[in-house]
Amino acid sequence: MTNRLGYDNLGLGVGLRTVHFDHLLKHLPAVDWFEIISENFMDSQGRPLYVLEQLAERYPIVMHGVSLSIGSTEALDFDYLQKLKQLASTVGARWVSDHVCWTGVAGVNTHDLLPLPYNEESLRHVVDRIRIVQDVLERPLVLENPSSYVTFVDSTMSEAEFILRMANEADCGLLLDVNNVFVSARNHDFDPVEYLRMMPHQRVVQMHLAGHTNCGTHLIDTHDGPVIDPVWELFRIAHEATGGVSTLLEWDAHIPEFPVVHDEVLKAKRILEMSFKAESAASDHPHLSTAHFHTVHHPALVVTAETE
Ligand SMILES: [Fe+2]
Repeated sequence: MTNRLGYDNLGLGVGLRTVHFDHLLKHLPAVDWFEIISENFMDSQGRPLYVLEQLAERYPIVMHGVSLSIGSTEALDFDYLQKLKQLASTVGARWVSDHVCWTGVAGVNTHDLLPLPYNEESLRHVVDRIRIVQDVLERPLVLENPSSYVTFVDSTMSEAEFILRMANEADCGLLLDVNNVFVSARNHDFDPVEYLRMMPHQRVVQMHLAGHTNCGTHLIDTHDGPVIDPVWELFRIAHEATGGVSTLLEWDAHIPEFPVVHDEVLKAKRILEMSFKAESAASDHPHLSTAHFHTVHHPALVVTAETE
């Protein structure tokens, strides 16, 4: 399962953040690739764009936006799309992503990634708009599953079904954020493993990993710490299902020194190696394999094993 709409598997990347600029220019660390927040560079003519251009000469760059507002009833902003396209060409972006959400209406940008009702009407609306965006950008758009805290009485399908149909009908790519799957699964009491199973795996171009905050009654997608074990387990399952895709760690609050952030995403390599060794050992000793399978794969354990 390695189609990814023809996009490469870039390996393990890190989100480019201003606090790391000096370190990156000085040390040029052995990172596979960087993801930028598109809006932080679209209107910049100063140092951020200079740093980005320096890095773009040495590393693959992927663009991740937060203002497309693909689900809004507001008209698409074609000036924004042209700027996006221009930046993608300037930095040779491998692909351009945003979120399955809306960010505002009536000229107001809330700067929040707001969830959509999932029904036939919203599906048609989003699919039509994705097709227009793809025509303007002249490349497949990649959209990320949101983390959410509310649901709508107007929804007639699950988020997983909506995203599956959206991706197939609009012929777009997906950015699978496994932390968002975990957060929303806990908040809305659905099975995260079933969600991963339902995704059109050949359309998954990229994955996100991140930390979140456990507020007891609900989880918030804060990107302010390391990835917890059950999210690593979802990553492992998604890796198996997709055959491996470009994977990026998001760390946006209480950001530590760059090597700490980089090391967190490199854990992915160790986790996959351990999993591979465990599977090899289980196939050498079939009597051990059943216990291993149930410990690792049982969906209930995935949801309840959080240790925060
Ligand atoms: Fe994300």
